[in-house]
Amino acid sequence: MSLKQRDKKHIWHPLTQHKLHPETIAITKASGCILVDEDGNEYIDAIASWYTCMYGHCNPYITQKVTSQMQTLDQVVFSGFTHEPAVKLSEALIDILPNNQNKLFFSDNGSTSVEIGIKMALQYHFNHGEKRNVLIAFEDGFHGDTFGAMSVSGLSIYNGSFEDFFIDVKRIPTPNGKNHDTILNQLATLVNSHHIAGFVYEPLVQGAAAMKMHNAEGLNTILSFCKANNIITVADEVMTGFGKTGRYFASHYMETKPDIICMSKALTGGLLPMAITSCSQEIYNAFYSDDMTKGLFHGHTYSGNPLSCTAALAGIALLKSDEIKNNIKRITTSHQHFGEHIKNHPKVASIRQTGIIFALDLDIKMERYGNLRDQLFQFFMTNGVFLRPLGSTIYIQAPYVISDEQLQKVYRVIEAALEII
Ligand SMILES: Cc1ncc(COP(=O)(O)O)c(C=O)c1O
Repeated sequence: MSLKQRDKKHIWHPLTQHKLHPETIAITKASGCILVDEDGNEYIDAIASWYTCMYGHCNPYITQKVTSQMQTLDQVVFSGFTHEPAVKLSEALIDILPNNQNKLFFSDNGSTSVEIGIKMALQYHFNHGEKRNVLIAFEDGFHGDTFGAMSVSGLSIYNGSFEDFFIDVKRIPTPNGKNHDTILNQLATLVNSHHIAGFVYEPLVQGAAAMKMHNAEGLNTILSFCKANNIITVADEVMTGFGKTGRYFASHYMETKPDIICMSKALTGGLLPMAITSCSQEIYNAFYSDDMTKGLFHGHTYSGNPLSCTAALAGIALLKSDEIKNNIKRITTSHQHFGEHIKNHPKVASIRQTGIIFALDLDIKMERYGNLRDQLFQFFMTNGVFLRPLGSTIYIQAPYVISDEQLQKVYRVIEAALEII
């Protein structure tokens, strides 16, 4: 029996309606940008397995560092213990984060990094003796699938059964260069009528909202308003972090820096699961007390896992290398050329790009996971490219190590797809 047949017996996959989508593809190996299935078919991973493997699958530098760490220290409780991989990672990460960030809290996935960011914002006010119980978030944001993260996510079409249990969240539109005054007026009204604790947002690019991009100046205005009103700003850089926007973090584009930053995905170069929530000294100080109850009583068994820390440290070394920096420039320019070439195609409604994140909207209405979208997905796979269209949006977020030839193939297959739909 094939792996995909055996899979059906016991496995319940994420984000899957198994009655409508009974088929899975069994991947047996991966290297660089290539995934290989159990029948020997190869696919270019043009979305870096949900934006994680940015230095390529099974990156030899990262795997070698982790293999060596495995012989020394595998796992230890991170409450009351520390270790070299975590300490070294803390130094390397603080070095590339916006310079107001000073403390790191470890967890193990993007949703929990946001959950922790939300807890930090809520408890910050609580510890200062102030009752603030409402959060602000963007329309159409996505922050993960745990309860706090679901609450701040605007894309809640699949969250219907949980909505009665959410945190109170007020939504504002993303800034588009023309609506900044309207947003500021809305914020002023919200502040007058609610006790706003924090603002949770994806900076510059909203991934799950089909790579919707917004205006840095407008976001800066919102962040400044929040600062002036003691609203804790929580940047969800789970997708945008580690070079994707052309800078180490999207938050580097705004003058006003967030109080808290959530990271995961490319943090470990896709080798192992890990997340970190960083914060400023001021946030940390609100928890630093002789009173035990003022601490942040949150922890996961695998927090600060030495192997994940080692992978992250190796990933940061690669991110800072000339080779990866040049690759990011090369891919950015290549996408710009492709964008120029494809934007006037009759079936293309619009294109957009931030750094190596490229998105193309088809001039065709499609459901997020409907039949037409599935046909498109199937066409890409049959032609050896792994892309996951979000409704009528096709986006590319390939590993930084993708070659020019592979990139051209991705573009060619996208262009060919326009002819079959
Ligand atoms: C911006 C953002 N935040 C949070 C998450 C949740 O991360 P995870 O799937 O690791 O829980 C995602 C996942 O796609 C994301 O894109």
